[in-house]
Amino acid sequence: MPSIFITRPIPSDGLEMLKKQPNLEIDIYEKDEVIPREVLLKRVQGVDIILSILTDQIDAEVMDSAGPQLKLIANYAVGFNNINTEEAKKRGILVTNTPDDSVSLTVAEHTIALMLALSHRIVETDKFTRAGKYENWGPQLLLGTDMRGKTVGIIGAGRIGTAVAQHLHFGFDMKIIYNNHHQDSEFEEKFSATFKTKEDLLKESDFVTLHIPLLPETKHFISREELALMKKTAFLINTSRGAIVDEKALLQALNDKKIAGAGLDVYECEPLIDCDPNDNLELINLENVVLTPHTASATLETRQAMSRRAAQNILDFLKNGQPKDII
Ligand code: GLV
Ligand code: GLV
Repeated sequence: MPSIFITRPIPSDGLEMLKKQPNLEIDIYEKDEVIPREVLLKRVQGVDIILSILTDQIDAEVMDSAGPQLKLIANYAVGFNNINTEEAKKRGILVTNTPDDSVSLTVAEHTIALMLALSHRIVETDKFTRAGKYENWGPQLLLGTDMRGKTVGIIGAGRIGTAVAQHLHFGFDMKIIYNNHHQDSEFEEKFSATFKTKEDLLKESDFVTLHIPLLPETKHFISREELALMKKTAFLINTSRGAIVDEKALLQALNDKKIAGAGLDVYECEPLIDCDPNDNLELINLENVVLTPHTASATLETRQAMSRRAAQNILDFLKNGQPKDII
């Protein structure tokens, strides 16, 4: 009988789908916490399938510990930088993710929430109001900036980048420019978008938003030189993976007001907000940032959809070896 190890309790829909499957032995890590490494190594022993989450490093050691019968790693995430896909490929292990439309639309909403929070200074003015500082309405009090009519530079025109373009083009009448590994005429037509080199995109955008996967070649895709190209009035949004941005360079640019601000959901040394918490520059001390704890896809609806999607990949694999979302 095939067996599966689930590294952390996930929302119920997918678990119920798996429990209905006859002839599947299910083991779930009991606690709602990141599974300790030594427990992970032990509990995967002899299983055919691992359902992992993005905080689990599924590397050669885990695959060795599982054993040669391991045939599927179903990641409960869109990103898959936590899995050594090269090692998986060598061993003939399939890897799947959960690129459901609902994830793209929810991450796009969160991206726009960060853009709105920055441009309308929501976090800063909330603090101001709570601190009892609102004494008089003022014609020039705490002015923000409009999104409407501005230029957004979308880096990565995949599912999430497309969902962002959809909202911003139709909902906010923004001018869309984009950079992608290939030009995409459908994207251009749909959103009146223009393809730009990375350099031109950074120079022309009022908002730059990142929607590319973290791969060896995209690490520090935005570093000191790139930040230097951006307008002083521009905002950077990152809901992809922290290491796409060189955190040290970003901290410096924000501190020196080289850019207007940043909206971040992901961090280079996550769950640390700063890789080097002891140096004097810290994100949490900057006024011009809005920070969320990797919650861009964290809605009830979407986390259930991801649960169903991960389970469907497993059920399809058991049925015919052909899950839909093979990486
Ligand atoms: C979340 O970051 C995901 O990759 O799904
Ligand atoms: C603002 O509150 C206005 O009435 O203009």
